[in-house]
Amino acid sequence: MEKLIGPFKQILTLAGLSLKGSLHDDQLEIITDGGVLTENGLIKAVGKFDNLRQEFPDAVVEEIHNDQLLLPGFIDCHTHICFGGNRAKDYALRIAGKTYLEIAKAGGGIWDTVTQTRLADEQTLLQGLLKRANHHLSEGVTTIEVKSGYGLNAEQELKQLRTIREAGKLTKVDLVSTCLAAHMLPKDFDGDKKQYLQYVLDGLLPVIREEKLSNRVDIFIEESAFDMESAQTYLTEAKQMGFDLTVHADQFTAGGSKVAVEIGAVSADHLEASGEKELNLLAKSNTVAVVLPGAALGLGMSYAPARKLLDASATVAIASDWNPGSAPMGDLLLQASVLAAAEKLTTAEVFAGLTYRAAKALNLDDRGIIAAGMIADMQAYPCTDYREILYYQGKLKPGMVWKKGKRV
Ligand code: NIG
Ligand code: FE
Repeated sequence: MEKLIGPFKQILTLAGLSLKGSLHDDQLEIITDGGVLTENGLIKAVGKFDNLRQEFPDAVVEEIHNDQLLLPGFIDCHTHICFGGNRAKDYALRIAGKTYLEIAKAGGGIWDTVTQTRLADEQTLLQGLLKRANHHLSEGVTTIEVKSGYGLNAEQELKQLRTIREAGKLTKVDLVSTCLAAHMLPKDFDGDKKQYLQYVLDGLLPVIREEKLSNRVDIFIEESAFDMESAQTYLTEAKQMGFDLTVHADQFTAGGSKVAVEIGAVSADHLEASGEKELNLLAKSNTVAVVLPGAALGLGMSYAPARKLLDASATVAIASDWNPGSAPMGDLLLQASVLAAAEKLTTAEVFAGLTYRAAKALNLDDRGIIAAGMIADMQAYPCTDYREILYYQGKLKPGMVWKKGKRV
């Protein structure tokens, strides 16, 4: 059934913009008094509302009464929202001056969430994940990547990935799962880091493939997690098994991004510690540079050099990193707005980073732009000028969200 949605005061389509490099706001395509024709969850046509109405007289009209501004739904291409418990205790220590790594060494950090996630039964885990995913959806996020990485043994990683799959059936938002069994060496593993990665390759990834639980593999490359060389071996084998790769790279020390680029990862995420060398490597590659302002905010650290990355002509996406430790807030729009002010980003660069560039980080080419043929994932804000959205720094939320053409 054809459905015509509109009229919107402005439609920001995000169409026709480059995948890489800096963008100016005057490059943004804006359709005033626009409409979107949808059919079977896809966008069939975009244009002036009145023209579409004439052209498609049989379409059912979903009329928009007040002044509204339409954007593609946001894509959060990096989260860890399947977890048990919380780490408020860590956060209190951190704001009082302890570092993330000191807290981890003292028994807090990722391992604490592993313990709490292992203890959580499947229902509790599922309900927590659904609550976060649906909250994100209500704020205009229509696709969410979700990592495992708090199970850290085959049985518990599978529990997380199966929970993500189950949640995907129960929520309207699209969940894209990633195996992050290589988050850290589990404290109860009988062996070293290399042996643990081999255990994941032999005992977990084949099951994930078999059950079609995920087609993405992530690794945390860092002193406290895995070194570059073991990561290279691990990722090479995962790639041979057919997985798309992504890397937690250059969060505290540089190095991970080099591995990501060399192996042809779809994205390298974090990059707070990236220097000139790393920026240039990323810029020359097809690996999307994903910046995570929520982690910088949560850890009280500097942001990743988003401006420099864009100027060097990298593809920059912005994601929330929503997790119970370093990034507990989970407000993607707020984080992107604050990042823009600190890093001097244009509105076009921010919206690109939250939509079609983030889709690229997930290897998805069917969303992130309001154009014919794309999935009809959209959100509308109660304003008349697109600049108001970042101006209110996350306080202005979308009043309407469409997932596959349906109001949610
Ligand atoms: O992306 N850096 C490693 N992993 C997560 C944090 C996970 C946690 O602290 O629980 C991140 O920030
Ligand atoms: Fe992360």
